[in-house]
Amino acid sequence: GGEDDLIARPPVVTVMGHVDHGKTKLLDALRSSNVVDKEAGGITQTIGAYQVATQVEDEERRITLIDTPGHEAFTAMRARGAQATDIAILVVAADDGVMPQTVEALNHAKAAGVPIVVAVNKIDKPDADPTKARGQLTEYGLVPEEYGGDTMFVDVSAKAGTGMDSLLEAVVLTADAELDLRANPSQNAEGLVIEAHLDRGRGPVATVLVHRGTLRVGDSVVAGPAFGRVRAMLDEHGENIEEATPSRPALVLGLTAVPGAGDNFMVVADDRLARQVAEKREARERNALLAKRSG
Ligand code: GTP
Ligand code: NA
Ligand code: MG
Repeated sequence: GGEDDLIARPPVVTVMGHVDHGKTKLLDALRSSNVVDKEAGGITQTIGAYQVATQVEDEERRITLIDTPGHEAFTAMRARGAQATDIAILVVAADDGVMPQTVEALNHAKAAGVPIVVAVNKIDKPDADPTKARGQLTEYGLVPEEYGGDTMFVDVSAKAGTGMDSLLEAVVLTADAELDLRANPSQNAEGLVIEAHLDRGRGPVATVLVHRGTLRVGDSVVAGPAFGRVRAMLDEHGENIEEATPSRPALVLGLTAVPGAGDNFMVVADDRLARQVAEKREARERNALLAKRSG
């Protein structure tokens, strides 16, 4: 495994910003779906991951998008989102301007050392003021390119679907200019659990993001304290896939327990080893907890 084994991988892009500024609607517009209308109370409560494709200079470019909640209660999820990503799209509603979780989100991205692309959303609204949003963000160190800075700002309307190609292009240009996105697809897969829950019919399901290697149906995996054999994998459209290459999010079925969001996963040689590693991790966590309790 040297330099030669590395191939280009899509950027992983986390969408962040204040509650109701239009992150999920933006993702819906980018991938022609409708998640927003199905959310309880219109509030995102988990992290979602999707891949889209765009045409930049006659080349098809894939981008992995991660949706995060903007509600103030979900600071930890935003911090995790920023750490799992290559680039952050900071969504700011042009009618509201900069709000507390806008600032929190940009601080997470800065702390993680992640380049930021700003999407100034809701420009269809009569009281939208994209110039004000630019001025406000300049005060936080995000200076628009058109003002001589180095942050790309793109005006969008998730509702009308305008500015989507420009936004994806800005992401690709930022990735090409600032990042070296390569990974080895040949090694055993490893990556991150984005979200996991117990599904009534399917048992534990986990959305994982592959960082390195290729994850395949039939692989023995450890995910945090959970383990198992990948029984099936689904893409963002619910279609069965046989393998997931670097930067690809996939829904994994077949784990024996529900791992935690933010847990690492890795492929190991066989089921026995998977169980051993998982048990070791569990024991370590139990001991840490006991140590904490006894002061
Ligand atoms: P949380 O995940 O809960 O933080 O919210 P969010 O940032 O994902 O916002 P969401 O996509 O749920 O949108 C909030 C509301 O704004 C919804 O009613 C959307 O329909 C509306 N909205 C989003 N984008 C636009 C836009 O471009 N224009 C207008 N007019 N409304 C929008
Ligand atoms: Na919302
Ligand atoms: Mg949302």
